[in-house]
Amino acid sequence: MVSTEDLSPKAGSEVTGVDLRRLSSEDFKFISNLCFTRGVVVVRDQFLDANELDQFSKLWGKPWLGPLLPSLPGTEAVATIKNRGKLGTVTEYWHSDSTFVESPPAVTLLSAVDIPPVGGDTMWCNQYSVYESLSEGLKRLIHPLKAVHYDRQRFNEVEGRAPYLGCVAHPVVRLHPKTGQRSLFISGQAEHFEDMTVEESAGLLQYLLSRLGQPDHVYRHRWRAGDAVIWDNRCTTHYAIHDYGQFPRRLHRITVEGEKPMMDKNPP
Ligand code: SIN
Repeated sequence: MVSTEDLSPKAGSEVTGVDLRRLSSEDFKFISNLCFTRGVVVVRDQFLDANELDQFSKLWGKPWLGPLLPSLPGTEAVATIKNRGKLGTVTEYWHSDSTFVESPPAVTLLSAVDIPPVGGDTMWCNQYSVYESLSEGLKRLIHPLKAVHYDRQRFNEVEGRAPYLGCVAHPVVRLHPKTGQRSLFISGQAEHFEDMTVEESAGLLQYLLSRLGQPDHVYRHRWRAGDAVIWDNRCTTHYAIHDYGQFPRRLHRITVEGEKPMMDKNPP
């Protein structure tokens, strides 16, 4: 029987009693709705290999590889996350995946293969909850703003690929297409507001970025091999902690195509 338990007050729920290789449409609907509202869904002891992850991701939509990582041979869009050392870890900051493209991925899935004995946790921040915690005055101020997100990541150098270096403006307050809820859609890739300079944007942008990762909104996941974790990039940000030195850490990762972020036409 499928059951669920919240992992922190605002973000993350664990689901038990399912096998992700054989999900009924009813159970998929349950898990996806949980993901859209709680931001993160954890399912332990799944041990999905890259091909099974590829198959599972298709329930969510079209797999999307993006400009950063190569896919594993024989899979459509499965990438490997591995220990590249502290300096090569380009995901150790609060971000939502690939926000520097027009339509950033909606959902990301990770399947844990090798995990260090301790450390290498990932944290997720619920961006609905961050938005809700802002004052009414600040909500009104940021409502019409767009932030410009840049690809400044070092993946390109790490992987020896040509830099993409695109940038794109997205609404700072995003309306979720499934839940109709507003979230603060800001991420470490945002460098300034549209039609404003970096200097003009700095105070407010830094304040908004400082709200990400506030403990009230966060779930911190301690990985075990076999874990499958699914998150919604439209209403969460995440942060991969590199505190495990040279220990191997390897996960398979897949992202699912998203839509152009939607601005709410109605003021708060
Ligand atoms: C990511 O940011 O997608 C990587 C997460 C992780 O390595 O835990």
